[in-house]
Amino acid sequence: MPAVTRKIGLSLGADICWPICYEQIMKQLNLSIPWKGDTVRIEVERVSIEPFDLRQPCSYDVVLDRLTHWYHLSREWIKKSILMDGLYVLNNPWAVQSMEKHTTYCAMMALGMPIPDTWIIPAKSYEPVPDMQRTLNAYAKLFDLGAIGQTVGYPSFMKPFDGGGWKGVTRIADEARLRKAYDESGKMIMHLQQAVIPYDRFVRCIGYGPQTHVVRYDPDAPLHDRYMQERESEFVSEEDAQVLRDTCLTINAFFGWDFNSCESLRRDGVWYPIDFANPCPDSQVTSLHRHFPWVVKANIRWSVFCAVTKRKFRKTLDWEPFYAAAEKTRDQPYRERLSAYAAIAAERFDSKRFDEFCAKHLSQLDEVAWEFFGSPVAKDAIRQKVAALYPAHEIEPFTELFWSRIQDWRKDEEAAPSAPAKKPRAKGKS
Ligand SMILES: Nc1ncnc2c1ncn2[C@@H]1O[C@H](COP(=O)(O)OP(=O)(O)O)[C@@H](O)[C@H]1O
Ligand SMILES: [Mg+2]
Repeated sequence: MPAVTRKIGLSLGADICWPICYEQIMKQLNLSIPWKGDTVRIEVERVSIEPFDLRQPCSYDVVLDRLTHWYHLSREWIKKSILMDGLYVLNNPWAVQSMEKHTTYCAMMALGMPIPDTWIIPAKSYEPVPDMQRTLNAYAKLFDLGAIGQTVGYPSFMKPFDGGGWKGVTRIADEARLRKAYDESGKMIMHLQQAVIPYDRFVRCIGYGPQTHVVRYDPDAPLHDRYMQERESEFVSEEDAQVLRDTCLTINAFFGWDFNSCESLRRDGVWYPIDFANPCPDSQVTSLHRHFPWVVKANIRWSVFCAVTKRKFRKTLDWEPFYAAAEKTRDQPYRERLSAYAAIAAERFDSKRFDEFCAKHLSQLDEVAWEFFGSPVAKDAIRQKVAALYPAHEIEPFTELFWSRIQDWRKDEEAAPSAPAKKPRAKGKS
């Protein structure tokens, strides 16, 4: 069979730990996949930043992008490569650029998702651009912030309409706090959103293509402890986990995001999604610790699948099937509507073919990754990330902490009935 090579590019910024793990595991996998008469090998390379001719060809089949939401030269190179060279990119750069939190709330409200009641409020102050004063004098209506506060109810949250990273988020207990938060919001356009409080569960569901991982989250813990260590079955029923998966996959398929994370809070048995425009989700070992291997493996599976099968990139988003499903299921219970959306998502993410592909061509991944995450190279990748974030005297203890949590994950994997780790043990390796 002719040998062909597919090239995966990593478009990176400050990421340190996961790319090292991704590259090392790929090296150890040393894939050679029979595909449609060819033997496909994979090359992984970090994408460099340099001037480019708009007509120059792109050498990559797939680019895994973690940079372009803030580094725009690379974003424009990626767009050019999709339009001109048929590149497959995780994630769709146009969707990353234009789908703020606000758009995602509106779209999912239209599908009937239980997004908490949310208002948007004109900015408190403005850049003095030439037409601003005339426009505001003519059209900006005076409004009663207190009345909006009453309508939304207390407690509520004031946060930027395009937020991220907890910037500008204030919990509002009463009208005085609302007025103060608005006065301090400056030029940002703010949402005021009903609080889902009290809640009994706070989760993040991470999605990579058709793969999902549900993690309990504690927003009040220090940064390194927010992703909790409990296993899924310890904090949600299978039924609830399925609601969270279907929610995340619907959102990701709708917006053309191959990876994203969706925050939902449960109150009185209802899951309220509150923040799901995170198309460059936290992938660092310093936050994810025991969940970190899942992210690295999911990343490998999906990018290899896209590269080997030459998955076609969806350049335009095409929302009509979701709206059609919303219309068709209008009178049905929400759970059934969500299942209808999730079925579209499963089709868009090629779920069935992906599962078959992984079973056939990536069956060794679990075992290779399990071994790798016990190796000195993996520990050093953790240390490098910790060293980039923590003061000198904390590097050692935090490296040990994250390392020990990953080792706990390895032990759990080893004990699981379908343990990939059973194989190396049987061979007497550990
Ligand atoms: N409607 C809400 N109900 C309860 N908590 C909320 C709500 N909105 C925001 N929060 C809290 O504020 C945090 C930050 O808000 P979020 O919408 O996630 O903004 P960001 O995009 O900056 O992460 C959330 O993780 C949660 O703890
Ligand atoms: Mg958030």
